[in-house]
Amino acid sequence: MNAILTVRGLSARIDGQQVVEDVGFDVPATGVTALLGRNGVGKTSTIRGILGLIERQGKVIFDGVRIDSERTHRIVRGGVGYVPEDREVFSKLTVAENLRLAERQPNPNRELVEQLFPDLVQRAGQQAGTLSGGQQQMVSLARALLNDNRLLLVDEPTKGLAPKIVGEVAEALALAAKTVPILLVEQNLQVVRRLADTAVVVEGGRTVWEGGAAELLDDDELTTRLLGVHGADAPQQPSESTKGETL
Ligand SMILES: Nc1ncnc2c1ncn2[C@@H]1O[C@H](COP(=O)(O)OP(=O)(O)O)[C@@H](O)[C@H]1O
Ligand SMILES: [Mg+2]
Repeated sequence: MNAILTVRGLSARIDGQQVVEDVGFDVPATGVTALLGRNGVGKTSTIRGILGLIERQGKVIFDGVRIDSERTHRIVRGGVGYVPEDREVFSKLTVAENLRLAERQPNPNRELVEQLFPDLVQRAGQQAGTLSGGQQQMVSLARALLNDNRLLLVDEPTKGLAPKIVGEVAEALALAAKTVPILLVEQNLQVVRRLADTAVVVEGGRTVWEGGAAELLDDDELTTRLLGVHGADAPQQPSESTKGETL
């Protein structure tokens, strides 16, 4: 397999506390690889470790080059785009300002972004903090797509979104995946089924399964054991429209 990213024996710490123990997997050079596992198993920390945002040890090879001792800004400049959990848009800045700040190259991919997110063109002058969660997610994705990345790390892009918006975000990711390989952390297994070719499952800070995404999701016993849900009828996450209704 032609891998764009190879991770071996990755461990990571936050404030001296070990949060990733021994994670290893390959991300193929095309398509979507899902990084899965229950809450708190170390998915976000794995991504932050790959990027050098938290203290890490082990081997991380990006397009044939070791990056496990590199500083974050060099890894990002080298072509690893990051779409963080919770989006992290600049809420006081406009949509256009958020996008302009993300541009790293002389000829950013503005046309691609405008094609993928026409809504953002309409809202160019709007303060990002006043956008819906789904729209903020689009801004976060757009920022990564403005640059010619060779890999995108996307952390829980559909978390907390209404089902209709989940579909729109998934569609944008599917189109983005035609241009760049994606490592995707995603709890919504319908989205995983739609997008992912391969899957990696983490438990207790360790890789416990790696294989085809369909192979995992078609195996109810395996998904129940590893993810705590059934692949076919995974519960929807609380959505913007239904959140709080049962309180
Ligand atoms: N800032 C932090 N300080 C201390 N522990 C943390 C911090 N962030 C995450 N952790 C711990 O690290 C572990 C892995 O967290 P995380 O990588 O966020 O998991 P996931 O993304 O799979 O839900 C959890 O046990 C969590 O409590
Ligand atoms: Mg997380």
